Amino acid sequence: GAPVEVDTSTLQPGQKINLTWRGQPVWVIRRSEAALETLPELNDRLRDPDSTVASQQPSYAQNLYRSVDPEFLVLVPICTHLGCIPSYMPQPGSLDTNWPGGLFCPCHGSRFDMAGRVYSGVPAPTNLVVPPYRVADDGLIVVG
Ligand code: FES
Repeated sequence: GAPVEVDTSTLQPGQKINLTWRGQPVWVIRRSEAALETLPELNDRLRDPDSTVASQQPSYAQNLYRSVDPEFLVLVPICTHLGCIPSYMPQPGSLDTNWPGGLFCPCHGSRFDMAGRVYSGVPAPTNLVVPPYRVADDGLIVVG
């Protein structure tokens, strides 16, 4: 499939843009400052906080933010358990009182943080996939 271009210039913190690349959904999420600050604090609660599984992200996204520009997360929102689409729940407290914001899979309860990193003790075995992409000038992100 051809690369897909998305203009992020009007995206507000917490919002996302949905696109399709190679027949798969892709979300481009602009993370808030607060969401970014929470990520390092979650490491102890995650199965693979350092994103060591090479298949789940390009090497340039193997970092704390799982992204090129920390502000923007590019993610394939397909649960790594059995393929359901997780719910996007960026608001702290929106799932339960300790919920710092992230993605929740309604099928069997897998939880992911705002970098698509999977929590320990849920059915999903790995972090969500970050597809190949690049950040171009003028707020453009090119997926593919
Ligand atoms: Fe997401 Fe099972 S498909 S938890």
